[in-house]
Amino acid sequence: MQLVYDLLVVAHLLGMAALVGGWLVLLAGAGSTTVMAWGARAQLVTGLVLVGLAEGVSSLDEDLDHAKIGVKLVVAIAAVALVEIGRARTKRGQDGAALVRAAGALGVLNVVVAAVWH
Ligand code: HEM
Repeated sequence: MQLVYDLLVVAHLLGMAALVGGWLVLLAGAGSTTVMAWGARAQLVTGLVLVGLAEGVSSLDEDLDHAKIGVKLVVAIAAVALVEIGRARTKRGQDGAALVRAAGALGVLNVVVAAVWH
């Protein structure tokens, strides 16, 4: 089970790379919002599964900070919402770029929360 948990952490970090990396490429004036959208969705799904495993499998010996997880969950849901709404607006010919950019900034905020909150 430890291996499953560790592989999910790898997936979680790759999702973070897609969200933040896709955002940086967009800021540089290139790329596609698809990479960011999949990154944001992946963070929500892999994060929730990590929490489920950490709470449900005692042999993992994980002791999560629920306040920290709660903040990350709210920020991640907001990131998914912004990227999805921004993409839908762009598809309809409206201006959705600012919302997509905001979603990337929230991704960075969650990296800071993950690393700095002990
Ligand atoms: C934009 C969204 C997110 C980003 C950028 C992000 C980023 C990160 C990073 C960089 C780590 C590694 C930190 C470390 O190992 O010390 C991490 C770990 C983790 N994240 Fe997230 N995260 C996001 C969303 C979520 C969500 C929504 C949840 C759960 C509801 C979550 C739960 C976790 C858990 C359980 C770990 C593993 C902690 C551990 O075992 O050390 N994350 N996240």
